[in-house]
Amino acid sequence: MARDVANVWWAMFGFSALVLLVVCALWIHAMLRQPREVDAARARRINRNWLVGGGLILPTASILALLAFGVPAGRGMLPLPVPGEQPLRIEITGHQWWWEVRYPDSGVVTANQFILPVDRPLDVVVTSADVVHSFWVPRLGGKLDMIPGRSNTLRLAASETGVMRGQCAEFCGSQHAHMILHVEVLEADAFDRWLAARGSLAHSPAPGAAGQVFDERCGQCHRVAGVSEGTRAPDLSDLASRPTLGAGVIANDAEALRRWLREHQSLKHGNAMPNHDDIPAETLDQLADWLETLAP
Ligand code: CUA
Repeated sequence: MARDVANVWWAMFGFSALVLLVVCALWIHAMLRQPREVDAARARRINRNWLVGGGLILPTASILALLAFGVPAGRGMLPLPVPGEQPLRIEITGHQWWWEVRYPDSGVVTANQFILPVDRPLDVVVTSADVVHSFWVPRLGGKLDMIPGRSNTLRLAASETGVMRGQCAEFCGSQHAHMILHVEVLEADAFDRWLAARGSLAHSPAPGAAGQVFDERCGQCHRVAGVSEGTRAPDLSDLASRPTLGAGVIANDAEALRRWLREHQSLKHGNAMPNHDDIPAETLDQLADWLETLAP
């Protein structure tokens, strides 16, 4: 449907651009041309020709041409999925300012990345945990508001593989711009492997002092499969495999992770994570070492 709408839009855009060009050309021609004397009868004829041609025939022809594009596109729009196919359900919840992504059939939870299979109908069920956000991945079609206490469903099927960008499209606070969703469309078998690898994750706790800090603080809000069950903050079970930190604030690598732990409030001011100024540097370092192992 989104592709059909886009095709109609491009046809309308092309046609409108053509009309604009013709009008501009006529306007320039009229400006540059020397005035010449014509008798009254000829002036009437010229006026009539322009009125009938430019005011009646041209608009009628234009609208008919656009209808020839638009009507078949509207007819061809079949609701997904094709009968007999069961759409895969994926639940995405907006938070200030990150994305929670759940695959309820397999119990997999991740954050700030939306991995989906190509050519398979999905029901993307969106809601919000706090204020109104909006789910928008332009290359996957329309956007849909994420409203607290209400579920909206966007049914879609990606027609090609690749990496795309999603962005919260409803102003939701000071870090609205830093609510970026990494989207990856995988081949069906690659997606199944990804889901299976995520589903079987079970980590062991961080060693020593880092483990204690994680237990007492981080784990209260963050979930790490096999270690903690917090639900208020992003699930960290596959943190090391995600491309960015802080929902698109910085690229994810060992250096960035340490920087994020120390300076996340200056990197993304107002995010819900408290400062860790009182944690000794070596414990934070140990914690970062362990967080880097959280991958399938
Ligand atoms: Cu969430 Cu803007």
